[in-house]
Amino acid sequence: MLVTDRERLKEEIHAWADQYGHSRTALMPILQEVQARYRHCSEYAMQEIADLVGIHPVEVHGVVSFYSFLTTEPQGKFVVRVCQTMSCDMAGKDRVALQLVNDLDIDFGETTPDGMFTLEWASCIGMCDQGPALLINDKVYSKVTPNQVHDIIEECRATYGVHALQKEGH
Ligand code: FES
Repeated sequence: MLVTDRERLKEEIHAWADQYGHSRTALMPILQEVQARYRHCSEYAMQEIADLVGIHPVEVHGVVSFYSFLTTEPQGKFVVRVCQTMSCDMAGKDRVALQLVNDLDIDFGETTPDGMFTLEWASCIGMCDQGPALLINDKVYSKVTPNQVHDIIEECRATYGVHALQKEGH
């Protein structure tokens, strides 16, 4: 990471600490902000947060490793979580999972080389009567069939393309 990137991250973490507080209760919201912005919580970020909220860095590490939505490795722009709990399992989640592995050309726990998609297993996401269910970032997909996987992936790419163009001011 360039020094300027670090300085920017440090400024942002300080701003979040001002917003959420400089105590232990601010730990989770600050980590979530860092994860959302940088798609992971780096060693540097965790150290900085530990200093700001006055706890040991090991404790910050412990929190990050406990929660599956916090990661130390960068995740894709789209995190695809496939429910592997019983109802979705019985509804055919394996065939959907296999299609995702084939189409994205990665295994579960991996991120595509272009940084676009991360594939993960999830526990029940509350759509048990409409499985197989997926969660892509915060959007739920229910009754997913292998045939729909290609379109879902393309929908994500198109959404990202629109966001990227908007950021560039087109
Ligand atoms: S079992 Fe898959 S959403 Fe509940």
